[in-house]
Amino acid sequence: MTNPFFKYRSNEVDNDLRLTVLSSSFIPDSFPHRSDQIDQMVKILSSVMRNSPPSNLLLYGKSGTGKTSVAKKVSNLLKEAFPEKVKVIYINCQLNDSTYSVLVNAANSIIANENEKIPLSGWTVERIYNELLRQIEKFSGFIVLVLDEIDKLARKNDGDSLYVILKLADDAKSSRVSFIGITNYTSFLETLEARVRSRLNQESIVFPSYNASQLRDILQERVNLTGMAGMVEESAVSLCAAIGAREHGDARKAIDLMRISIEIGIRDFMEKIGEENVYKARDKYEMNILRESINGLPLHSKILLLSAVVTQDQDKDNMITGEIYENYKKICDELSVQSLTSRRIGDLLSELDDLGLIITVTRSLGRYGRTRVITVPDHDELMKKYLLEDEVLNTFKGIKIGKQHRLKMDADESQSRTVKEDEMNDILSSRKE
Ligand SMILES: Nc1ncnc2c1ncn2[C@@H]1O[C@H](COP(=O)(O)OP(=O)(O)OP(=O)(O)O)[C@@H](O)[C@H]1O
Ligand SMILES: [Mg+2]
Repeated sequence: MTNPFFKYRSNEVDNDLRLTVLSSSFIPDSFPHRSDQIDQMVKILSSVMRNSPPSNLLLYGKSGTGKTSVAKKVSNLLKEAFPEKVKVIYINCQLNDSTYSVLVNAANSIIANENEKIPLSGWTVERIYNELLRQIEKFSGFIVLVLDEIDKLARKNDGDSLYVILKLADDAKSSRVSFIGITNYTSFLETLEARVRSRLNQESIVFPSYNASQLRDILQERVNLTGMAGMVEESAVSLCAAIGAREHGDARKAIDLMRISIEIGIRDFMEKIGEENVYKARDKYEMNILRESINGLPLHSKILLLSAVVTQDQDKDNMITGEIYENYKKICDELSVQSLTSRRIGDLLSELDDLGLIITVTRSLGRYGRTRVITVPDHDELMKKYLLEDEVLNTFKGIKIGKQHRLKMDADESQSRTVKEDEMNDILSSRKE
């Protein structure tokens, strides 16, 4: 028989290469609709030409508005223009959210000799700080330290972690250290205490969300770089752009959708990539997001979500906190996990709501006060599947779900209160208004 894999083999390498321009790590040469932000950054950073340290800079904007990639692009241009004079250090504070790891990574990106690199653990923070300072002073030029997702670091140790890093600028003598902070939070500065704010608060640049037509330009340019533009229908580009625009103008989502659409088309040997590929890609993308957010939940949130899914499975009516809690305890028993108190469960439900994994609405029960009515949105079967991928939850066989705790929400039956009173009060007192 002819090997069925062969037909997939032919252009595979070529296609993979072409699609790297649609990958998240690819930094394009040009950034449509970001020339103002790039000009501002260049103006501020070009002070090194006059031997004056650049002002500290904060870049703000929602997810997928180009902050990281524009900052990396401009950093590369700066290094290229002044290779002897400037070093740029990029640190992602989501991955390095302690003083220790920021200092180690910063020092190691200056230390060229592999044998002299600082170990990832074992040193005191003070020792690394002094070593980094020594490395910075040895360079005697301008150091630009880019702190991406800076808010993650700012939250650590009551702001001490960020403060220590910013102090490098005061302590370095022969070199000049400047910072570029990047964050999604427009109110970031207000959350900082004075000693940190005063060091950071010099210049800020806003990256506004893209609209659909701007995203279309960005996408079209990327698609042209793949060399597959002839294959991709305009309507597919527009649809990816429209979906990205709906998602607070997120270029990452738009580009990811375009890549997945093309991948699906190539896999199915399609000659054209049209809207139907984009719809399929969107479903796949959303499933991936769902899976990631479920995988990232702490154990008790997973058990609680599983409880909500199986409770809803039993009876599609409105669920209330009390019955989800009852079933949560049963699942905990089945999994031999110590259950949490109902008060903690109230908080976890609020977090699941914030993540969009459940929908809660507060309803009045007349003289019995108020309670949260909970629904699990679409994809409950998939949720269950992803939840059961957890190594603790995968022993779950299914509990007997009693309906004795169900409160009918119809007005005339709203007084049929059957949930244990103390438990409800407990939950209600921690409810999210
Ligand atoms: N104007 C643009 N032109 C070309 N590509 C862009 C543009 N803006 C964003 N992108 C691309 O969109 C994707 C997301 O951008 P980036 O990672 O820079 O966003 P971000 O603002 O840092 O998001 P987050 O806050 O989630 O970290 C990247 O692949 C980036 O190259
Ligand atoms: Mg980013």
